Amino acid sequence: MSLITIALAKGRLMEEAIDVLEAAGVGCGQLKEPSRKLIFFTPDQRIRMILVKPSDVPTYVEYGIADIGIVGKDTLLEEGRSLYEMLDLKFGQCRLVVAGFPEKQDTWITRSHTRVATKYPNIARNYFSRKGKDVEIIKLNGSVELGPLTGLSDVIVDIVESGRTLKENGLVILEEICSISARLVVNRVSLKMKNREIKALINNIQTVLEERENGEVN
Ligand code: PRP
Repeated sequence: MSLITIALAKGRLMEEAIDVLEAAGVGCGQLKEPSRKLIFFTPDQRIRMILVKPSDVPTYVEYGIADIGIVGKDTLLEEGRSLYEMLDLKFGQCRLVVAGFPEKQDTWITRSHTRVATKYPNIARNYFSRKGKDVEIIKLNGSVELGPLTGLSDVIVDIVESGRTLKENGLVILEEICSISARLVVNRVSLKMKNREIKALINNIQTVLEERENGEVN
């Protein structure tokens, strides 16, 4: 049996990722203890889990340091890494949108110079170039809603989950780009070299997802 390494995105997806892995038989007990450790093993030492920043998950998987990664589709689209997307894990559901002030609803896209603030410069650039719109992208690392509020940008491209952040800052969705959820990705070489172990784990996770969809508790 080969050791399997899973890269888990720290942050909003972490808790549900651990829930799914546990339900699929991956012992994540150590991960639930408060700690600053970044590497964890299952009790049988067969699986190693590394905790990384979401945007670094595709990097660890592409380079084969991690065989498997659990990360949001938004991060996969932004990072554009070469890996296999194997499963839609269905949690972490949200939408990627263009948002701004409601008054801008009809006018923002017709302006000759539109500034877009975002944590997702590649997604934003691709989206607007597909629409044939030349925009100025301003990369931010968080609190993106401040863009229009402070006058830094006309609109933002960001994820919306509950919609609360937009609402509480007086912004609205102007356009929807796509739906997002957590995905399981696999390194291309690992899928060949550790096929049996990876397929077994994916099958177990798939069963958990099906049980959840059918309303069975796990
Ligand atoms: C994300 C996103 C929005 C907010 C959307 O930010 O960038 O700001 O969550 O969630 P909602 O629709 O449920 O309000 P995050 O919490 O990751 O923090 P950040 O601004 O520091 O990136």
